[in-house]
Parts: sequence; C-alpha cells; structure tokens
Amino acid sequence: MNESVRDSAWKLLDASVVRLHGGPVGTVAARDTIVQEVNYDQVFTRDFAVSAYAYLLAGKPEIVANFLLQMVRLQQTERQFDCFQPGEGLMPASFKVVAGEAGERVVADFGEQAIARVPPVDSGLWWLMVLHAYVNSTGDAALARRDEVQRAIRGVLDLCLTARFDMFPTMLVPDGSFMIDRRMGVYGYPIDVQALFYSALTAAEALLADVEENVRYIDAVRKRRDHLAYHIRTYYWLDLDQVNRIYRYGVEEYGERAVNKFNIYPETIPHWLMDWLPETGGYFAGNLGPGRMDYRYFAQGNLLAVASGLASDAQSAAFMQLLRARRDDLVGDVPLKLAYPALDGSDWVALTGMDPKNRAWSYHNGGNWPVLLWLLAAACARTGDADLIESALESAESRLVRDEWAEYYDGRSGRLVGRQARRQQTWTIAGYLVARQLAQDPACLGRLGFRGEATVSGCTG
Ligand code: GLC
Repeated sequence: MNESVRDSAWKLLDASVVRLHGGPVGTVAARDTIVQEVNYDQVFTRDFAVSAYAYLLAGKPEIVANFLLQMVRLQQTERQFDCFQPGEGLMPASFKVVAGEAGERVVADFGEQAIARVPPVDSGLWWLMVLHAYVNSTGDAALARRDEVQRAIRGVLDLCLTARFDMFPTMLVPDGSFMIDRRMGVYGYPIDVQALFYSALTAAEALLADVEENVRYIDAVRKRRDHLAYHIRTYYWLDLDQVNRIYRYGVEEYGERAVNKFNIYPETIPHWLMDWLPETGGYFAGNLGPGRMDYRYFAQGNLLAVASGLASDAQSAAFMQLLRARRDDLVGDVPLKLAYPALDGSDWVALTGMDPKNRAWSYHNGGNWPVLLWLLAAACARTGDADLIESALESAESRLVRDEWAEYYDGRSGRLVGRQARRQQTWTIAGYLVARQLAQDPACLGRLGFRGEATVSGCTG
C-alpha cells in the first residue's frame, strides 16, 4: 500500500470537516477551489456515510455520533398535508451550518433547493446504515436506545413501510431521488435503492429496542426484508439462463399462475446484452416494474447486494465472475463504472431529457466514480476476492492523486477526468480510505454492520 497516498487522503478528509458549536458534525461534499460550488459546500447525507465509515474504521467515532444526532433533530416529525413541506419521517439530502448574529444554526435541504427539486429517498436509509455501523464498531448501543433515536428509526420505517399505491415488496421511488440525482430513467424500483432498503431494514432490525411499541415494527421489518430478498433474487437476477427464459416467455398471462409476472415482452431484451453476458456470471437488473425491465447494470445496487447478503452466495460468486469477465467495461481505468451501458441517441433524449451533463459515457450516464471503490472492497471482502480489489486500488491510486481526487471520470473506460467533475471530492477521498482498510483487513466489514461478517474483535482497524 502507498502510505503517502493514505496520509494525504487523511489530511484532506480532516480538512473537509464541518463544525457546529466547535464540535465536528459532518464533512462538506467537495472543496474544489476553481469550479463553482453550487451546494457542494454542504454536508450531504449519502456522501457523509462514506466519511462516517472511514472515521469509524479509524476509531474516531465522535463526528459520526454528532452527525447521527444532528440528523435526528433535522428529521421532519409532523404529519404533513402541505405538499411544500417535507413528509413525516424524511431526513434531509444535505445541510449546512450558517453563522448569524444569533450564533450558528443548521439549515437543511430536503430537495426543495436542489437542482430539479429532487427529494432524497435514500437519506433515512443511509442514516440507519451509519447508525448500525456506529453501534457495531463502538459498542455504544446506548446512543441508539435513546428515545429520540428510537423515534427517528420508527419515523424512517413509517415512511418506507406504510402501504401506498403499489403492492410489491420493493420501494417505489421517483426519478433522481438518490445518488443518481438527475433524470436518468431510474424511477420505479431501481436496484440501487432496493439494495439500500434491504441494508437499512437489516440495520433497523438490529437497532430497534425490544420494547412494546416496537413489536409491530420489528415484525414488519423482518417480513418485508424477507419478501424483498426473495423478490430481488428471483425477479431481478439476469444470467444467460434467465435471459433465455425471458426470451421464451409467454405474455399477457392473467391470474395466480402467471410465469411472466410483470408481463415483460421478450422483444425488450437489448442486443448488447445477448453478446455481452458471459457463459457464467450474472447481475441484478437495474429496474423492474409492470411491463418494464431495465437491463442496464448499476454498480451501487449490485455491489451493495453482494456486500449486504441480499444476493445469495451463488449470485455473489456469479457477480464477481461477471466483474472479472467484463473488467474493462465495469471496472475500467479509474474504477468504477456507475451504470452500463450508457444511454445514447433517442434513449438519451427520452430518458434524460437531453441532459448534457449526462450525455453518453459521462457523469451518471456511464461515467466512472472512484467513490464506488469502497463498495467494491466491501463486496470483495465478503466474497474473498482479494486480488480484484487490490488491482483496482492500484490502478486508481496514481490517478486519484494526480487528478486531485476527482469526483468522476468520463469515457468508456473512465480515462478522462469528468468534464464538470469537482476536485477534492470528499467521498472520493473517504471511499479510497475505506477501500484500503477493507482490502487490508476484510474482517472490518462486520464493524460496518454488514450481516454475517466477522465480529468487532476480528478487525484490527
Ligand atoms: C452530485 C451527485 C450526488 C452527490 C452530490 C454531492 O449531485 O449526483 O450523488 O450526493 O453530488 O457530492
């Protein structure tokens, strides 16, 4: 490992810390001095989760505890009939500390300020996962047992579990409401959010105190998690056998005995997929809904599915085979590809609304994001693929330093620094640190709260 890279990453991560009344409470999204900031000077919930993992693995939990409690204070706690107010249980996409005459105050954004006004469906899920990681790595279960924290957990669950207009175990989400926070045809039931949902339910089950008012929540969480896992493993999985089954599907089937439950037309199988899928190896489809299967590959959902145990052992092994077989496409020069393949031509027009930032092989639309290294490391820690993460880290290391920890890379194999990428992007830095730590000591994955992994004592981090 390159010690000097790690040392400089730590200096930069520490420099990104935001303080409230003197105490560390989060990290800003980026500290680029050239490109205009927009809201990159704020603490993003999903971005901070990666910083939190880095600090927890380094044995520095104070900033994480402060962040967790700050989020509890910011969570919306009132039932709303006013469509301009965040719904009950929602946690903000980001917040900033503003200094005024009356002292410092925290201003939260639930998406109402964001470009295209996108709401964060993932904030509460990341918060639960960070809380789980905090308790697992510090042993400080008392923080999670506080009344206000238990209330906040139930608040997130109310928002996620209440019956609404659909009857699937997956969660229905609007376009651009998570890491991909622009229009990209990821509305419906995107795998990225479903994998987060699964991990968050796992966290909630571990965190809910054994008290009367939690009984129905614990029961609902267990049931939903099991249904969700079955649904994803059965209907989202794509390998050559499954694609062949879809290819020969009957359609317009009615009632209980339908095999083609979502009425997927075989004609929707894209040509690229037939040639691209290796003999062995598979992945979870990007999205599945009525009459719709999105065959695109999305990294966050797939890697998290492996790391969290949402994927079965056989599926995890097959997914790692796919990563190896299609390394140039999915890992690339500077790891890793966020979505594959890119939307181009009329698909790009129809599904992104002609978004120039998301033109083919750029940004969310087939760009490469080094932050995903931590998730690759987590998946490799689970499956024991030590050389895959090692070689990915080696190819990333020199570029990350030279390119000042860029936010993302463009091009089919991610060779060019993204056209609008921020430098000194905090989750690139933190993602590298977490990945390095997990590669060095895979048992640390258990400290981050992922199921079935080694316990705290098995990790030297
Ligand atoms: C961009 C990304 C989003 C991230 C934010 C801050 O908007 O799409 O996922 O949270 O930047 O880094």
